[in-house]
Amino acid sequence: MSYPQASYFANNEDDTAKLAKDLAAAVFSQLPADAVIYLNGDLGAGKTTFSRFFIQALGHSGSVKSPTYTLVEPYELESVNIYHFDLYRLADPEELEFMGIRDYFGGGAIALVEWSEKGAEYLASPDLVISINITLSGRQFQIEAKSTQGAALLQQCKCV
Ligand SMILES: Nc1ncnc2c1ncn2[C@@H]1O[C@H](COP(=O)(O)OP(=O)(O)OP(=O)(O)O)[C@@H](O)[C@H]1O
Ligand SMILES: [Mg+2]
Repeated sequence: MSYPQASYFANNEDDTAKLAKDLAAAVFSQLPADAVIYLNGDLGAGKTTFSRFFIQALGHSGSVKSPTYTLVEPYELESVNIYHFDLYRLADPEELEFMGIRDYFGGGAIALVEWSEKGAEYLASPDLVISINITLSGRQFQIEAKSTQGAALLQQCKCV
C-alpha cells in the first residue's frame, strides 16, 4: 500500500520552525494517538533543529539539547510525552533492549528519532519519515507517510 508524501523547502531556520509548528499542530489534533517520526539526514542536516521547534510548539518552554550522549531525552509535557532519540552513538542495537526501548513507544507518546537506521528492528515502525537534505540555499525536506495515521497527519498539515 502506498501512502502520500510531500516536499517542503526551508531557506532558513524560520522556515524549518514553520514546518515544525504546522506538523506539531497536526499531531496535537490527533492526540492521544501515538506518533513515531523518524528524522533522516546527514550530520548537520537539521534534525535536532526541527525537533527543537516541534517540541517547543507542543508546549515545552525550555531548551532542547541534542540527545547524542544520552540516546534519549524525555519531555513530559502537559499535553503529551515526547521522547527525542539520537542513536548516532549506539554501538549495538541490542542496547536498546537493555534501556527498555519498548516502554517509550505507544501509550499516546510521540517519538522523534534521529539516526533510526542504527536502531534496526528494535524500534517501532514510523508513521512519518522526514528526510532532510542540505542544499546550497537551505534544506530540502521530504515527508513520507508510512501508515494510515501518518497519512492523516500529512493531510492535516497546513504546510504541505
Ligand atoms: N533550515 C535551515 N537552514 C539553514 N541552516 C539550518 C537549517 N536547519 C538547521 N540549520 C543549521 O544546521 C546546523 C546543524 O543542525 P542540527 O544540529 O539540527 O543537525 P542534525 O541533523 O541534528 O545533526 P546531527 O546528525 O549531528 O545530530 C545548525 O548550525 C543549524 O543552525
Ligand atoms: Mg541532531
